[in-house]
Amino acid sequence: MAAMLEVKDIHCGYDGTPVIRGLSLEVNRGEIVAIIGANGAGKSTTMRAICGLLHPERGQILLEGEDISRSPASANIRKGLSYIPEGRRLFPKLTVRENLELGAFTVVDRKVIDERLEEMFALFPRLKDRSTQTAETLSGGEQQMCAIARGLMSAPKLIMLDELSLGLMPSLVEKVFETVVLINRKGITVLLVEQMVQEALEIANRGYVLQTGRVVHSGSARELLDSDEVRKAYMGM
Ligand SMILES: Nc1ncnc2c1ncn2[C@@H]1O[C@H](COP(=O)(O)OP(=O)(O)O)[C@@H](O)[C@H]1O
Ligand SMILES: [Mg+2]
Repeated sequence: MAAMLEVKDIHCGYDGTPVIRGLSLEVNRGEIVAIIGANGAGKSTTMRAICGLLHPERGQILLEGEDISRSPASANIRKGLSYIPEGRRLFPKLTVRENLELGAFTVVDRKVIDERLEEMFALFPRLKDRSTQTAETLSGGEQQMCAIARGLMSAPKLIMLDELSLGLMPSLVEKVFETVVLINRKGITVLLVEQMVQEALEIANRGYVLQTGRVVHSGSARELLDSDEVRKAYMGM
């Protein structure tokens, strides 16, 4: 069976400056796949291209066999893609509840929105306690939970998480990764980008290592964790 997401030899960049130069990857249904690599390697650019915020100049992106290379981000959300960008991007002056509701903008049925809110509050009880507070009053970890929950409100098939661990204390990083595993167990396929390479590979099935816009290593998470090259370059060992 074809992969849920197939990225085939894409090239893209900003204002004519190439950033991604012939990148291919696949994500199968039910997997957690990690994209790792140094700062500036093109991880976020790859995520933006997949979700439709940026269109590749060459190559193809297929979601369940359908070519979405030219499809805008809003349409891709309806097709089941959800992207949690780096830096959380919550609306600071809106309440937790309002931030979550915005994640369900594709849904018109009030009942469905309320059901999803309840699911999110069950998954993240802290958000329930804080539902009427503005997002800016949340701690870093709570903001990250809120961003993840907002991304889940569209009931995605594939959730893309960009540097979830950024700026969080180590104890919270662990919590956030546990949450990713929980989400995956609910049947949502996960593509994540991380600089916390060891932690990401510990929860992932497979990984891709990016360097200047290309995949330089790929394999099972175990293979990458055991690779001397990967350990030296990305885990400081
Ligand atoms: N909006 C942008 N405009 C121009 N160049 C950008 C933009 N975003 C990223 N870049 C450049 O693209 C390259 C890859 O960036 P990015 O995809 O953010 O890397 P990563 O997420 O791996 O740190 C970097 O050289 C960066 O400077
Ligand atoms: Mg990035």
